[in-house]
Amino acid sequence: MSKNNRTRTKEPIYLDNASSSPIDVNVINEMLPFLTSFYGNPSSLHGLGRKSTIAVSKARARISKLIGSKSNEIYFTSGGTESNNLALIGCARLIDNMKPTCKRILISKIEHDSIIETIKFIEKDMEFEIDYIPIKNDGLIDLDIFRKMVSPKTSLISVMLANNEIGIIQPIRSLVEIAKAKNNNTIFHSDAVQALGKIPINVNDLKIDMMTISSHKINGPKGIGALFIKQGIHIKPIIFGGGQEMNLRSGTENVSAIVGFGKACEIWKEKLESVQTKISGLQRYMIDRIINEIPGSALNGSRENRIPNNVNFSFSGINGENLLIKLDEYGIEASTGSACSSNKKQKASHVLKALGLTYDQVSGSIRFSIGYQNTLEELKIAVDTLKNLIIEFKKINGDGFP
Ligand SMILES: Cc1ncc(COP(=O)(O)O)c(C=O)c1O
Repeated sequence: MSKNNRTRTKEPIYLDNASSSPIDVNVINEMLPFLTSFYGNPSSLHGLGRKSTIAVSKARARISKLIGSKSNEIYFTSGGTESNNLALIGCARLIDNMKPTCKRILISKIEHDSIIETIKFIEKDMEFEIDYIPIKNDGLIDLDIFRKMVSPKTSLISVMLANNEIGIIQPIRSLVEIAKAKNNNTIFHSDAVQALGKIPINVNDLKIDMMTISSHKINGPKGIGALFIKQGIHIKPIIFGGGQEMNLRSGTENVSAIVGFGKACEIWKEKLESVQTKISGLQRYMIDRIINEIPGSALNGSRENRIPNNVNFSFSGINGENLLIKLDEYGIEASTGSACSSNKKQKASHVLKALGLTYDQVSGSIRFSIGYQNTLEELKIAVDTLKNLIIEFKKINGDGFP
């Protein structure tokens, strides 16, 4: 690459924090004793068992503080995917038992695969009717269209708080109010995996009934998450066994991971404001420079209603995957398409298609997601490298910069 001397260093510039984030050292320190000394099963009545029970309760309290819920409204799962499965299938099982005439579900067109694939299962195997809420080209749901789509027979709605690809924040409270005005018994679930730690969340202000969160997006360990379920809502389990998690999610608790998740939530609660200021400054820097310096670039989704760590651009005439591979060669790690539905062959993003983007724009897209460990210096290098690579790609294509 002509104008750029960066070669791959041992330490990559990691701009894929929405896929997964590095574990905070304080989280590791808090977890370690539960991997070495305090290995008791929380269901055991002896001292080590009680120590684990207390640690799990402490984590539940820390998590509930970050989202404004009660401790006993937090149910631990293996992550965001399982929480979404539990919320939707558990609720569909409840509806099937109680109100089989109201088997209508609404979800947005831009949900994560763990919602979309679960809904397909519910549609096919449990015979529910599903409607998909469209989005406008800024990434937001149109409230008037939503109002027309909700009916008194709608029993479950799931709309994510912030999208994993374009970071757009939906007006969840308004959506809940519209839905509940039509049917106060409609259960409203929101996937807040990407919003947690990025914007203040209070489940009571949002008026939601269930909410999904995951630890590894907020510098906690992987394989642990939770489902918030408002007191008074009684969905059915999808995993059966020893009756852990108040009979909703059987299986011995992953104590060290739960402890780590709790600590990560405590850290984010303490520094939410300062981190938000820092990462939104970095986001502003990156978006401004790309818009001003890279011709043919277009920011995907509204600039305003966006979580502060997301930067998603399409570059005309560029193949996003090829760009990603080149960036990786220079030690800059970003992503295309869905955040963490890998191993599958990359398919065209359903989120960008729902925005109304052309095939060229969808295949020319790339997402950078900023973490609190990133620095301005790193972003400078990332944008310089990106710019130079795009110049090279365009030269090869025969349509260089003016
Ligand atoms: C919006 C959203 N929901 C759910 C998930 C799945 O979470 P987990 O990786 O904890 O299963 C992800 C992962 O990227 C996500 O971005």
